[in-house]
Amino acid sequence: MMTEFISTTEDDGVLRLRFNRPEKKNAITAAMYADLADGLESAASRPSVRAVLFESNGDIFTAGNDIADFMAGDSAMDDPHQTPPVMRFLFGLASAEKPLVAAVQGGAVGVGVTMLLHCDLVYASNKATFHTPFVDLALVPEAASSMLLPHFAGHQRAAEMLLAGKKIDAERAQDFGFVNEVVAPDVLEETALTAVRALADKAPSAIRLTKSLMKPNRDAVIAKMKEEGQHFAAQLSSAEFREAGMAFMQKRKADFSKLD
Ligand code: COA
Repeated sequence: MMTEFISTTEDDGVLRLRFNRPEKKNAITAAMYADLADGLESAASRPSVRAVLFESNGDIFTAGNDIADFMAGDSAMDDPHQTPPVMRFLFGLASAEKPLVAAVQGGAVGVGVTMLLHCDLVYASNKATFHTPFVDLALVPEAASSMLLPHFAGHQRAAEMLLAGKKIDAERAQDFGFVNEVVAPDVLEETALTAVRALADKAPSAIRLTKSLMKPNRDAVIAKMKEEGQHFAAQLSSAEFREAGMAFMQKRKADFSKLD
């Protein structure tokens, strides 16, 4: 199933997966996660694909998970009988053997940030911002970010993002260790394309083996994703989340003062 909201093209050994729902700030629905997961699976199975590039249309990279989907319960992360599309995408990121590159041209929120922790090269425009307001939505981090972000940035800087929900700019994201290079908006696409094509031209087995050697803890990453997913699903049915979700829809600040 392909939606028009993820555009998928193959270009010189590079599979380009582009968020294309700008009117909703590229918020990701279950159907879009399914497309992204299918894209990663097709990259894994087709020898002609040597690397993947994530990119985005509009003024924002992605506003993260579609909050209306969260409220409808479409993204439940703990269904024992099937793997929901979001988890298929996250497992696909964690187990990708081919290089993943991202070009972040604007705001990245929630999974828009946590997916970057699985990319090998991340380029950001100087307009990009990075925001993980999970706790502000009464949720918990996902995509193993509760493990990977402290690993990249150290506990206290990770706490600034994951506990305090502070939005950071591209330079600070580079300082935190999950952005390679910050460039002017008009050269971002070219910079990312040059980098991903250079990877796509290299010896494929050497690239895959090297990436795999650099990521010895894949099983631990997937276990952390599952652990986070259980808490995430439980929070989605909590009174805290009902208040946070309603507040987002009503464009007001959430009031947690009456909850224990
Ligand atoms: N889920 C569902 N819809 C979303 C969305 C999301 N995550 N993010 C934005 N949208 C929708 C808005 O509801 C709005 O829809 P409408 O035009 O039908 O009212 C439209 O996209 C435009 O968003 P808007 O908030 O008006 O744009 P903005 O430029 O003022 O702000 C953001 C952009 C990203 C800062 C803001 O939309 C935002 O904070 N979104 C929520 C991000 C979030 O918390 N994601 C979950 C992380 S776990």
